[in-house]
Parts: sequence; C-alpha cells; structure tokens
Amino acid sequence: MLKSWVLISIALFSAGTVVAEEEGGIALQPAGADIRNTESLQRGARNFMNYCSGCHSLKYLRYNRLAADLGIPTSELAGSLLFTSDKPFDTINSAMPKDSEGWFGKQPPDLSLIARARSVDYLYSYMKGFYVDKTRPWGVNNLYLPSAAMPDVLAGWRGCMDCRSRYSRTSRTIAAAPGWCWWESMQ
Ligand code: HEC
Repeated sequence: MLKSWVLISIALFSAGTVVAEEEGGIALQPAGADIRNTESLQRGARNFMNYCSGCHSLKYLRYNRLAADLGIPTSELAGSLLFTSDKPFDTINSAMPKDSEGWFGKQPPDLSLIARARSVDYLYSYMKGFYVDKTRPWGVNNLYLPSAAMPDVLAGWRGCMDCRSRYSRTSRTIAAAPGWCWWESMQ
C-alpha cells in the first residue's frame, strides 16, 4: 500500500517539479490535486457521479468500497452517490448502453485506470482543454485530444467569472477521483 502512495505521489507531483509533461506538443496544466484531502475526494466522487457517470463507468470500483475509503456513511451512499438502481456492492456502471458508439462515433471509455494510462495532470488538462469549434458535432474540440468525440460537459461552469474558480476546482476534484481509483486498483 505504501508503494502505491509513493507511486501516485510521483504521478501527482512530478510534473510541476521536473520537466512539464506534454500531450501532443502542448504542456499539461498541473492539476494540483491532493489525494490526502478526503473532502476534496468526496466532492470529486460526487462530481464524477453528476457529470461523468452518465457516459463513463468505473468498472474496477464498487460503490461500498468508494464510500468506505472516502469516509461516506453507508446511509448517505444512496442519497449522494447511488443515482441508479445499483446496489452498494455493485461496480460503478455508466447509464450508457453498451452500443452507444453510434451516438458519439466512439464508445466512452471506462475511466477506472485512465489516470495510470494518462496521468492526473492529463485528466485535468483535458477537462480544461475544450474550445469552441463549430465544425465538430458538439460544437467543441479539445486541445489535448484533437477531434474529441466527447461534449464539453463542464461548459456550464465557464460562463461567468464567478464560476471560473469553481470550474477549475470541479475539474481538479474529478481529476483526483480517477487518480484515487488507480491507487485503489493497485491494492
Ligand atoms: C455525454 C457523454 C459523456 C460524458 C457525460 C462524459 N464523457 Fe468523457 N468521453 C465521452 C466520449 C464519447 C469519449 C471518447 C472521446 C474520443 O475518443 O474522441 C470520452 C472520452 C473521455 C476521456 C478519454 C480521453 C482520451 O484521451 O482518450 C476522458 C479522460 C474522459 N472522457 C473524461 C470524462 C470526465 C472526467 C467526464 C465528467 C466530467 C466525462 N468524460 C463526461 C463521452 C462523455
């Protein structure tokens, strides 16, 4: 377990201290996520359920494990995290049917191991990397994933100055949530 913490610390903090990581030649923005901050991780889990689980699953993670590790009482699980007909011991599925590829041109990938595959900074940068592009089906494109098939689901946070810091914070907490899942899956 200690090894996992060391590894994830490296993943979380190395980008700022060594050379800035890049994706497609564009520097990643450091997420500044703190996986020891339980409140932030709880917000991340809720934000994930609100904004991402409609399309993305976390198939290596069970709700009750998520709740136990984030200090969320089982009694609160139903109200705050379990939005579907799932049971606490189920793994986190998305609401998306398995054949939704036709809707987006691509199947939304499972995000359990995405932090290991890409990095927490990548997740954060990706969520902040959407820009208007009228030639794309959703009217947006992404700096870090050219021709991205995903809509800009956090766009609502960007509309006003007031929302901007909350937008960054929302992106940050969600970026930490799959990071935590990676740690989870390594135990
Ligand atoms: C309406 C459906 C939808 C929602 C909601 C959604 N996504 Fe996606 N997402 C997609 C699709 C489709 C793809 C595949 C994009 C591609 O490969 O072009 C994707 C891809 C991704 C990827 C992979 C990027 C890569 O480099 O391959 C990440 C990471 C991701 N989404 C994160 C999120 C997060 C975090 C949220 C919540 C804030 C979210 N998504 C919400 C549809 C969605």
